[in-house]
Amino acid sequence: MTRKELKINYEEYDNLEQLTEEDRSLLVLAMATTKNAYAPYSMFYVGAAILMDNGEIVCGSNQENAAYPSGLCAERVAMFAASSKYPNVSMNAIAITVHSDKINIDSPVSPCGSCRQVIAEYEYKQKKSIKFILRGTEGKIWIINGINSLLPFVFNADNLI
Ligand code: THU
Repeated sequence: MTRKELKINYEEYDNLEQLTEEDRSLLVLAMATTKNAYAPYSMFYVGAAILMDNGEIVCGSNQENAAYPSGLCAERVAMFAASSKYPNVSMNAIAITVHSDKINIDSPVSPCGSCRQVIAEYEYKQKKSIKFILRGTEGKIWIINGINSLLPFVFNADNLI
């Protein structure tokens, strides 16, 4: 038996001012996008903003449904919109943030498992890692480079060959 260990690296920032201008403006757009969430059931309003390699930004917010599983997370709304609009352009970064009517969220939120799988697919397709910029409503900001740190042992097309 060999015991193995995986390490992940991420950066933690205390406030928006510590970010680069590019990262800050992406996060600010994600914050604005939470206002477009349709989340009458959870009252948990998520915003995502994706910076494309051509400089365009594509945003998405969570969209809920009375038939709960029919709704979709902000990250997938944004990813699918980005890939639909710019199918041949890489995604460089995604900023994700949230606010809630029910609770105060002062630590970063990271994408759910299904969204991680979708993000992994696009990373695989573009052969270039995506930078994650994560924040709650307030508080510290995490920057994570690449889906591998969020979804180790990923299942992707390599497993199908
Ligand atoms: N949600 C997101 O949009 N992104 C996440 O990463 C986690 C959860 C949404 C789904 C649902 O509309 C609400 O937040 C509560 O789970």
